[in-house]
Amino acid sequence: MIPMPKTKQDKLYIAPSILSADLSCLGEQVKQVEAVGADWLHIDIMDGHFVPNLSFGPAVVKSLNKVVKVPQDVHLMVQEPQKFIEPFIKAGASALTIHAEARGNIRETLKEIKKAGLWCGLSIKPDTQPATLIPYLDLIDLILVMSVYPGFGGQEFLPQSPQQISQVAKLAKEHNILVEVDGGINRQTAKIAYQAGARALVAGAAIFGQTDIKQAFADIKNAALAK
Ligand code: DX5
Ligand code: ZN
Repeated sequence: MIPMPKTKQDKLYIAPSILSADLSCLGEQVKQVEAVGADWLHIDIMDGHFVPNLSFGPAVVKSLNKVVKVPQDVHLMVQEPQKFIEPFIKAGASALTIHAEARGNIRETLKEIKKAGLWCGLSIKPDTQPATLIPYLDLIDLILVMSVYPGFGGQEFLPQSPQQISQVAKLAKEHNILVEVDGGINRQTAKIAYQAGARALVAGAAIFGQTDIKQAFADIKNAALAK
């Protein structure tokens, strides 16, 4: 397992989401984003129940660890996350994020992730109240705020997202928790999300969907940090 960064402060992390990569040459695609400075890869796991789509499994994480040295932030959009913790740990995930809306014992599942030494993340969908996160703040390293309804890449950043991000950022502050935002990030929305308190941005279509990946990556980072 490649560890996530040691510090969560004073940085902006950019995480390309492989959901929008060209899967016919995934190895080459991830090497490209690694070369341009991706802080970690964002890996969307969908089970066709929690969200109306299917994507990848642990085998993809295992294979990617053979070709790149960047950490892998695995986002479990699955109804029963507890079933999948062990397979993803074995595959070499660096961070595992489950959904607060998922089934099962959320606290126990988070503890299992933490015990294995991975970053432990909790995500909320756009309609979930940030207060839902409160009982877990002592355990988690990362809060993943969904700025689209999960299931598909290439959707538009929802207008209510900045308010949700800033409410989450207030909760996260005292606990040294990183706030990551996922969905519809592009040059415009990167700045909005950063100003609302996000310090990690997931971007799929705005990076892998572009012909010049280097430029697309730089544009998002520069736009977010611009005054
Ligand atoms: C949506 C996924 C996102 C998605 C982001 O369900 O969780 O990670 O890949 O893609 P873009 O950046 O294209 O909205
Ligand atoms: Zn995601």
